[in-house]
Amino acid sequence: MNFVIKKGEGLKGEIIVPGDKSISHRSIILSSLAEGTSKISGMLEGEDCLATIEVFRKMGIKIINEEGIYSVEGKGLFGLEAPDQPLDFGNSGTSVRLCSGLLAAQDFRTQLVGDNSLSTRPMRRIVEPLLAMGAKIYSSKNGTLPLNITPADSLQSIQYSLPVASAQVKSCIMLAGLYAEGVTTIEENKVTRDHTENMFKEFDIPIEMQNSKGNKIISLSRVDHIKPTSIDICGDFSSASFFILAALICPNSELLIKNVGINDTRIGLLHALRHMGANIELKNKVDSIEPTADLLVKTSTLKAINLNIKLVANMIDEMPAFFIAAALAEGTTIVKDAKELRTKESDRLQAMADALKSFGVKYELKDDGIVIYGLGSKGIFNSTNIDSYGDHRIAMASAIGSLRSNDEVNILDCVNVNTSYPNFLDTCQEIGIDIQIYD
Ligand code: S3P
Repeated sequence: MNFVIKKGEGLKGEIIVPGDKSISHRSIILSSLAEGTSKISGMLEGEDCLATIEVFRKMGIKIINEEGIYSVEGKGLFGLEAPDQPLDFGNSGTSVRLCSGLLAAQDFRTQLVGDNSLSTRPMRRIVEPLLAMGAKIYSSKNGTLPLNITPADSLQSIQYSLPVASAQVKSCIMLAGLYAEGVTTIEENKVTRDHTENMFKEFDIPIEMQNSKGNKIISLSRVDHIKPTSIDICGDFSSASFFILAALICPNSELLIKNVGINDTRIGLLHALRHMGANIELKNKVDSIEPTADLLVKTSTLKAINLNIKLVANMIDEMPAFFIAAALAEGTTIVKDAKELRTKESDRLQAMADALKSFGVKYELKDDGIVIYGLGSKGIFNSTNIDSYGDHRIAMASAIGSLRSNDEVNILDCVNVNTSYPNFLDTCQEIGIDIQIYD
């Protein structure tokens, strides 16, 4: 599947983006481990979350969808059944890494597999701490999928300082910690998204958070049972980021993006864009465990910034969109400490450098970052072909960047947009973007 997209202007309207992917995964996982029925609304029905749902169905959890409300009949921490085939996580790194933590504690064997992209992504980052907890988990020689997990006698707590800024690793250990003897502590020196911490609170699972010398330390202990609950999932800031970008870079545009999650650990892009001069107002803020707001975004002239290292961890999925903003800003943008981008659904540093090259933007690619020479507020991208390397966020960021081309752009290999934003085209068309699909 490919996109062809024409240059755009005058984008107007009110849109709702799909449910938050990170929160959707965690809702299914914790509801399945609770004792009784949890109700979830606002679930992202993208392929990644559908893969998580299927994984738990294969382990005997009844999950039904009635008019958008998902009922998950959790069977307790030890209620999962042995699946009769490998568990297929598709494209979803979040799902496979989080689920490894709880599968390491089950009394049955599992094999965890995924698609070609997921099968090249690093798994040692979860295998190592799980082994240290006494789990019997084995990756391929290269440290990738398939993961084979066999029952361990018991799991022991660990005191773990995260070597990479990764919410997936943190969450994997937290889930294993629910089954471990002793107090598990996890220390992070760059704060990453805290949806697992929040969801533990929503499910009444005791958890403590402290600050020590600027580092966050999470402590938790084994629990016997988890109470079911109701969860209303907000719009995904990462999906909203493409439309924030669209409104900023297209002349005469004004968009209202409703009910978007504005969890502090997710909105690095909002801070970065505001520093660049973006006109983004937060309206109708709702304060809750996962706060939300409507985002009113207007066409803006952007100036280059040097990306603050701390911000990168809180905008890791929005970096492709940020690179497009930087390419249309006045001045030179320097991004450092972003090597994690090379471990995502594609090597996002390389993939975005390739996209910028096709668009006619000058840059210097580094091992852990990039320097982008912005074309400025009147800058126009080449009409070209861009390979998204099967990566949903590269496809969507490039598609939106194409709105500033001199004619039209083909974006190739876009089918994985369905993993996180199945109705991306509908939202584009709703606000006046001329985008079509072809095979
Ligand atoms: C996610 C964490 C991030 C992010 C991913 C979702 C999560 O990955 O890139 O899309 O839901 O925990 P890392 O934790 O590996 O940085």
